[in-house]
Amino acid sequence: MADIRPPWRVPLLVLGFASLIIGVGAGLLRLGWAVPQAAADVAAFHGPLMVSGFFGTVIGLERAVALARGWAYLAPMASGAGGLVLILGGPVAVAQALLSLGGAVLLAGSASVFLRQRALFTFTLAAGAASWLAGNLLWLGGFSVYETVPWWAGFLVLTIAGERLELSRFLPPSPVAQRAFVAVLAGLTFGMALEAHLFGAALLALALWLLRQDIARRTVKDKGLTRFIAVCLLSGYAWLAIGGAIMLAAGLAPGSLAYDAALHAIMLGFVFSMVFGHAPIIFPAVLRVAVPYHPLFYAPLALLHLSLMLRLAGDATASFEWRSAGGLLNAAALVFFILNTIAAVIRGRARKPN
Ligand code: HEM
Repeated sequence: MADIRPPWRVPLLVLGFASLIIGVGAGLLRLGWAVPQAAADVAAFHGPLMVSGFFGTVIGLERAVALARGWAYLAPMASGAGGLVLILGGPVAVAQALLSLGGAVLLAGSASVFLRQRALFTFTLAAGAASWLAGNLLWLGGFSVYETVPWWAGFLVLTIAGERLELSRFLPPSPVAQRAFVAVLAGLTFGMALEAHLFGAALLALALWLLRQDIARRTVKDKGLTRFIAVCLLSGYAWLAIGGAIMLAAGLAPGSLAYDAALHAIMLGFVFSMVFGHAPIIFPAVLRVAVPYHPLFYAPLALLHLSLMLRLAGDATASFEWRSAGGLLNAAALVFFILNTIAAVIRGRARKPN
């Protein structure tokens, strides 16, 4: 089956963003903020909506575009539909089955790429898809959300690590560094399956590996977009190290302050710094629209970091006020980023010669 044209990709993106918006609302409710009923109704599904409904769909879409095969779009279609079923209050088992189907198709696509090109980065991307499928299947099989969380975190972390490896393939890591990366992969896998402290140690090791190996350490001295991307990457790795260190020290006890701190250092600090940095590259590839760089790109990034510091300070001192204010400002940083990106697209269009 052939690829689908860029305009037909938009509805999939809209489905993913529906999960993001309602999912963030659900998270705010859990911090005590008043939110519209649609978000309040799905408070228990905040984690699944963010990881599987939103990230599963946008990552599935990005990979389907890269694969240029019609069947690969079944992954974002299924996970986007799964998120929608949760939002609309449909049967949870149907949503879980759709999300699992999304994971299975993403894994099939990633495995086919690995079989064509056997490399460390294609393997890591396939491992990320396998973690997502494992998490979704566990949830479908009756495990609670917090028990599946390490697999979902693994999905995002491995996907990002694989993409960074892919981008550095013109400057490949030394054989020793590659072996160290494989050891980290093994640690992550055992950690996801068996033990949160081990998972935390492996996340910390991955952050240190990325901080040392990524060309961002060099490109941060550059200018404009290149420098902005490097700042996003390096600050994201710092959050991954912080999240890993908290998990190494405190494990992942659901409902604890350390649980909130470790998860969001990783999912907001690390993952969204990567999103902010890669959006000016990924949007043009997926939607064929230009996102020209503007120095204002730094503003949502700064808000993300400062608000997360406030939230983690609230977690560390058991201050519910700081934690909730931090969470609200986290959401504001995401809204700011989306509006900024839309403004950049409009500027790009205005500049385009007819
Ligand atoms: C943008 C603002 C966000 C807010 C206000 C928020 C809020 C929350 C809250 C209050 C919890 C419960 C913590 C606890 O039980 O101690 C939570 C859990 C969680 N969050 Fe977030 N979050 C946000 C962003 C994110 C993002 C971006 C992701 C993923 C990419 C994410 C994934 C999760 C996961 C997986 C859990 C665990 C779910 C569970 O135990 O039910 N969150 N979040």
